[in-house]
Amino acid sequence: MQDKIILGIETSCDETSAAVLAGDRLLSNIISSQIEIHRRFGGVVPEIASRNHLTAILPVIDEALGAAGIHRSDVNAVAVTYGAGLVGALLIGVSAAKALAYSLGVPLYAVNHIEAHIAANYLADPELKPPFLAVVASGGHTGIVRVDGRNKFTLLGTTTDDAIGEAFDKVARALDLPYPGGPEIDRLAREGSDRIEFVAKKKHKDYNLSYSGLKTAVVNYMHTAEQRGESVNKADVCASFQRTAVDMLVDTAMIAAKKTGVKRLVLAGGVAANSLLRSRLEEEGAKLGLRVSYPPMKLCTDNAAMICARARDMIAENAKPADLSLNAVSYLKISGD
Ligand code: KG4
Ligand code: ZN
Repeated sequence: MQDKIILGIETSCDETSAAVLAGDRLLSNIISSQIEIHRRFGGVVPEIASRNHLTAILPVIDEALGAAGIHRSDVNAVAVTYGAGLVGALLIGVSAAKALAYSLGVPLYAVNHIEAHIAANYLADPELKPPFLAVVASGGHTGIVRVDGRNKFTLLGTTTDDAIGEAFDKVARALDLPYPGGPEIDRLAREGSDRIEFVAKKKHKDYNLSYSGLKTAVVNYMHTAEQRGESVNKADVCASFQRTAVDMLVDTAMIAAKKTGVKRLVLAGGVAANSLLRSRLEEEGAKLGLRVSYPPMKLCTDNAAMICARARDMIAENAKPADLSLNAVSYLKISGD
């Protein structure tokens, strides 16, 4: 049987992306980022994101088809992120996907963004097989997911407040660093020392995490220094915050690994690009005999290739395609939850 050609679409936040996957071959993965547009506002402005998705979506889809060397009529299935994310932004992708699937007469698959971040690991490592643990770390989500099958996810624990990426972005803003803050903190932290003790709530019960306390501790540290007229070493603040934020997640992941006995661990989501998170997970994982892997940068942050990867598994288990009533959903749990 010939490989199914899947066209994937992703517009959940500030990246407009389309990709083409044929079986195991990723034929294209076009990402048009709005980061520069939102930078001057210090974060993503939902209305502006939607308007920019609207102008970008068709050219990005055309570019993805062109780069894959295929025509629209070659597409066998359309897959789109329907949640979680910004509703107005998601709706642009969902509407385009519906129109395409309908006009081409092919099935439409509604993809959960968090599951897709995890599925990006199958693109990076075709040998990867469940069971494994996924450390999900993005701007909107943070948690530990147990993956027992290509379509079987169990959320073991999650953040009870801010996501780790959100904490990176908010701390960066408090330090007057440009948006998105994660890569800036990652970069600046390399020049600093992690000597400052930011007290954070380390709550391991049920593998749950909390990032809001840590973020507030950093913000308070900045305010106190300002009130006292003291200068702050931003690189040290970055290094100290990053170490604490990363350790919280790594500790929780290691507890999950010990308790479940699962020996394989992957990283998923934009914060998976963080150099300290990668190295600390590998270091601590090695002590437990865990094999740790993560996708390349381009597959960590939002992209449509991961939407295709997730849809490929949904199709393989004969998941029911979505119909034209498909709507965007701002909050979405992992399906096995
Ligand atoms: O997965 P993603 O692209 O979007 C969501 O689904 O949320 O993640 C974006 C998040 C942002 O918070 C960004 O600051 C963070 O990923 N990020 C990083 C790094 N690169 C991106 N955080 C820490 N270190 C990085 N190197
Ligand atoms: Zn994401």
